[in-house]
Amino acid sequence: MLNKKEWMDAALSAREQAYAPYSGYKVGAALLGKSGKIYLGFNIENAAYSATICAERAAFAAALTQGEREFEGIAIAGGKAQAESNVPPCGVCRQVMAEFCGPDFLVIWGNEEHREQHPLSELLPFSFSNKNLEE
Ligand code: THU
Repeated sequence: MLNKKEWMDAALSAREQAYAPYSGYKVGAALLGKSGKIYLGFNIENAAYSATICAERAAFAAALTQGEREFEGIAIAGGKAQAESNVPPCGVCRQVMAEFCGPDFLVIWGNEEHREQHPLSELLPFSFSNKNLEE
């Protein structure tokens, strides 16, 4: 079974490949599927800034592309310097998590000294979902 340090280390290793020439803020994510597989993602910036993709959503795209549809949680690591790693997921990424994950989906971020972990239900209460689209 994966421990939290290994999980964060996987996010940190993904961070090294981040494409962040504009912000210099490199982020890596390690998404754990219910199959036990880990899917990595990193932020991919663009000269047209709004086309940027966050690390978390890149990880979801990688996982979904490989057929994984159910998830346990995600570890996120980033910042300008690795030592500052403290990246709570942005609102758009929280919304994408809510599309594919239940309230117990675990989100972990932090650094060597301090790690935060919260279920998605705490990070995005009252989320808009497919249930709202039902008549
Ligand atoms: N970023 C992520 O990859 N994930 C987050 O949750 C927060 C922000 C990226 C987007 C952009 O490339 C850089 O960090 C600065 O906002």
